[in-house]
Amino acid sequence: MALNPVTALLNPMSESPIGVFDSGIGGLSVLRSLHALMPAEHCVYWADSAHAPYGEKSEAFVRQRSLAIAQHLIDQHHIKALVVACNTATAATIHYLRQRHPQLSLIGVEPALKPALQLSRTQHIGVIGTRGTLGSDKFQRLLASLQDQAQFSVQACNGLALAIEHSVNPDAHPQASVQITELLGQYLQALGTFGTQAGQIDTLVLGCTHYVFVESSLRQLLGPHVHLVSTGEPVAKQTQRLLQAAGLLRSASQERAPTEHIRLMTNGDLAGLQAAANRWLGLPESACERADPQV
Ligand code: DGL
Repeated sequence: MALNPVTALLNPMSESPIGVFDSGIGGLSVLRSLHALMPAEHCVYWADSAHAPYGEKSEAFVRQRSLAIAQHLIDQHHIKALVVACNTATAATIHYLRQRHPQLSLIGVEPALKPALQLSRTQHIGVIGTRGTLGSDKFQRLLASLQDQAQFSVQACNGLALAIEHSVNPDAHPQASVQITELLGQYLQALGTFGTQAGQIDTLVLGCTHYVFVESSLRQLLGPHVHLVSTGEPVAKQTQRLLQAAGLLRSASQERAPTEHIRLMTNGDLAGLQAAANRWLGLPESACERADPQV
């Protein structure tokens, strides 16, 4: 349906899509949870792969990209809600997005420290994320507010999100998988000893949406007893709550195949996005397209 952009923004409809963005393919882990919980919803996913990784760029750069993508999704796709499926972009930008778009249902992601507290028995929690997220004021405030409840060991994982980004296109990046294994080994070792004994880290927070896609490698390295905590599900639930409160949820009877509901676009490696969307969401290549290069 063609909507007048001004009318759509002032008066979003349940038919409008949910906008989702990330620096690349990591946010597909959040999109997967959104679709699992609300299969009737339309989603437009923007992978800013030409500018990945966000985690090793300046806050000002990430903010400028996030504001531009949000504006594009509002103007061109008339979204009814925006999910910032990226911890780094949330830390750098959510406050500015709220100021600029007070009328939009807006959902961000942050490392799940509070849920990790509920799970940990040793009260020693590991947190991995990008340098941008873990160095941000937002994360430092969250950490300080919980510091008296557990010991948190925090590790920035430079290079990991990009290696995951590359791993879905092994023809172009044959070394990516080996790189992931090496980086994970190095960063987990730097965090300390994992296990369920007193003093050991028994819970690991995945503070970057890309890391969900190396969960099986993490599991192999850490064994079956360490809790791995990510944010896709709670973010999907929060999105559903906000849409419900705003009267903007599509009715479940409108459920259709994901191919009719989900559009993905990238300004980077299209083959990589297609491979990732197929592997993790079962979507055909045709669900993915090239993004507007002007954004
Ligand atoms: N997936 C993103 C996050 O959750 C960003 C990774 C990156 O581009 O550095 O932080």
